[in-house]
This record gives sequence, C-alpha cells and structure tokens, in this order.
Amino acid sequence: MIRLATVAEMRAACDAARADGGRVGFVPTMGFFHEGHRSLMRAARAENDFVVVSVFVNPTQFGPDEDLAAYPRDLEGDAAATEAEGVDVLFLPTVDEMYRDGARTTVHVSGLTERLCGASRPGHFDGVTTVVAKLFSIVGPSRAYFGRKDAQQLAVIRRMTTDLDLPVDVVGCPLVRETDGLARSSRNVYLDADDRQAATILSGALYMASEAVVRGQRDAAAIRQLIVETVAHAPQVRLDYVEVVDAATLEPVDQLAGDTLVALAAFVGKARLIDNVTITFPAGVPTPDLGVLTASTGMQEADH
Ligand code: PAF
Repeated sequence: MIRLATVAEMRAACDAARADGGRVGFVPTMGFFHEGHRSLMRAARAENDFVVVSVFVNPTQFGPDEDLAAYPRDLEGDAAATEAEGVDVLFLPTVDEMYRDGARTTVHVSGLTERLCGASRPGHFDGVTTVVAKLFSIVGPSRAYFGRKDAQQLAVIRRMTTDLDLPVDVVGCPLVRETDGLARSSRNVYLDADDRQAATILSGALYMASEAVVRGQRDAAAIRQLIVETVAHAPQVRLDYVEVVDAATLEPVDQLAGDTLVALAAFVGKARLIDNVTITFPAGVPTPDLGVLTASTGMQEADH
C-alpha cells in the first residue's frame, strides 16, 4: 500500500490503474476506523482491481459549534487497517490541497438535505456532497462504498450521482453494530461508560419498532411514539429527531407500505449519535434491516 497526499499524484495513480483495464473501487472516510469502515474496504477489495481509501476530516461539513477540532484521529492505526485490508492507496490530502485557491463552488442537493440531520445541521450535506463530488472527480472510481448507518448521506449521494450523471456505482453496505447493538461510529469514543451503556437504548428502540411492524403496525405516528417512549427510559439520552420516511425520497410517510426508513439522532454525553432501520416489504412481508452485529477488532474500539 502507498500513501499519497496530492490531487495530482492520486489522479495519476488511478489513471494508471484504469489504463491497465483495472476497475477502481473507492471508500471515502474521515478516518479513525472501526469495523464499519473495514467492512467497506473488504467489499471494495472483493469487487475491484484497485482500491483507494481516503482519510480527510472535511471542515466544510462541520458547523461552527460542532466537533471538528475534537474529531478523533489515528493516522497510524488507520494506515495499519488499510494495509491489513489489502488497500492499494491511502489518500491523505490536507485541507489546503482539497480547497485550493479559496474554492467557491458548492454542490447542493435540494429537498433530501432539508430534513432529518439536515434540519439540525444546516450546511452539513453541502459540505458532504461538495467533497464527495471532488473526490469522485480525483479518483474516478467505478464503484464507491458508503455505510447504511448514514442512510440520509447515502440517499443524498445517490441523488447527486444520478443528477450529475456521474459514472459511479454507489454501493450501500450494511450498518455495522457492536455486539450489544450500538451502531459503530468514530464518535462512540466520546462516550463514557455510563453514556455508552445508555446509548444502547437507541438500537433497542429501533428493534422494538421493527418488531411492532412485523406484528402488523403500519401507522408511522405510532411507531414514532413507541421509539420516543422507549428512549425516555434513558434520561441521559436526548432525542434530536425520530422520523419515518420513504427510504429513497426521505419524504415523511403516514402509513408504512413501500421501502421505509425509520431514522433517529440523539445527544448522549458529548456525542450526537445517529441510527436507523430500513423496512422493506418483499412480497408484502415486512422485513426490517437493522444491519449486522460484529465483535470488536481490538482497534480503536478497545478504548471504549
Ligand atoms: O461519511 C463520512 O465519513 C463523510 O461524510 C464522507 C462521506 C467521507 C465525506 O466527508
């Protein structure tokens, strides 16, 4: 594996891979890898000839009062993980390299970015789509891999890719959970032991909501209320939002019928956590997808 830091070097490496007939797989990240990131790298490795992982803590997707300065970083741990997953290039651009000459262009996806996390984090998705569009332009991947934990981000990036006719297959990969159900996140490192325990109420509430749907509940307001009441049992968990929306358009639904996303965000201690379940109805049968449980790899999670 090699490390590259400039746009010119990264573009040249991918041009060379494509010239040999290789398909480039790409995993954009902000680093501090956990099992979720590693599952994306494994998917990219299995399906492509040349695999690029970027680590770039993108300042334009953080609000002024958010955790940009505190965002966890572990460059050598990340490099060891990418090496172990058989990645070809670790792309590590600086902020100046990515936003040269006082960049003035923003990629904005309207509608989908205004609800859910977009309502609480104004400007966040403009930062995400702008940097992902730039990274797609630099790397030129055939496929790019994103986790379904960030379900809204995945829907927004799919929409951007369609609207801009970008020749990239956007691959959504399973949400990865700790063995007790907590969705894996780099921000879990902010949780102390009590908050870490309390935070498991979030996946528990989504599990209960899924069970209710499987038993026949279709009313979105009732599902939302069940989650709010369940989370209220953990006083240190403060819900930011709970929404029941169409999985593709992110428009609110009254009744569950087609592919539905039940998504939430909550403040726990110093962390703002997100989680979700997608419920599909193959042959009319409600089928919740809560992701996969995995044991710790012993990397950053060992600090929790
Ligand atoms: O999901 C993330 O880590 C980031 O939002 C992304 C897609 C790498 C863009 O900075």
